[in-house]
Amino acid sequence: MAGLFITLEGGEGAGKSTQIARLGERLRALGRRVVVTREPGGSPRAEAIRESILAGHGKPFGPFAEALMFSAARHDHLEKVIRPALARGDIVLCDRFADSTRAYQGALGAVEDRVLLALEREVVGDTRPDLTLILDLPAEKGLARAAARRGPGGGKADRFEEENINFHNRLRSAFKLIAKSELDRCVVVDADREPEQVAASIWSAVEARLRNENEKPAQISEIKANV
Ligand code: TYD
Repeated sequence: MAGLFITLEGGEGAGKSTQIARLGERLRALGRRVVVTREPGGSPRAEAIRESILAGHGKPFGPFAEALMFSAARHDHLEKVIRPALARGDIVLCDRFADSTRAYQGALGAVEDRVLLALEREVVGDTRPDLTLILDLPAEKGLARAAARRGPGGGKADRFEEENINFHNRLRSAFKLIAKSELDRCVVVDADREPEQVAASIWSAVEARLRNENEKPAQISEIKANV
């Protein structure tokens, strides 16, 4: 059985890490093997690139170079973690993936679509997500949550958290636009609710994919029976 590749996307403080952990537990309870991972990062080499990007080392080079850094990290992550897991039949849950490059470096950084699509074609190839959950909430709320997470003494805001509210509003629109352009793959989840309610919406989207997955072998045997 081929695995299932699910990505979670959204702005800062949308609750992705909490939801991904819950979803992982629920899928494991069904007896599925689950790999929870994240971008940038997910493999030792990609984690090293992550540190550099989030420390802001890519910023002086501009959004195109940052897109290359995220893509280099993604290339290794796919090779070392995601593709082997999918080949074993595992479910891969990834906190951010190529849609974040489209939103942050593309829509906000003004790197052209054709450039990002070419990068995706080379780096991601056929390993496109089966399902992308876009956690959506007003930018002010997400930023407030991200600040609360850093605590009162205030850990330092990272490279992207320190951008202003206008940036985060545009980010929200960019993710919604991606969802609109790929309705088969993307589901927008209202994240401005209690975590239990958000988890319930996520679960119904995932259950629908699992049903599709189970129907696939039946369809193949039907085809064979008709030959
Ligand atoms: P992280 O701490 O993982 O953010 P979050 O908790 O919001 O997911 O930091 C990752 C940051 O990198 C986040 O601000 C989004 C940004 N990013 C990009 O700009 N492009 C990308 O391709 C990816 C994967 C992330």
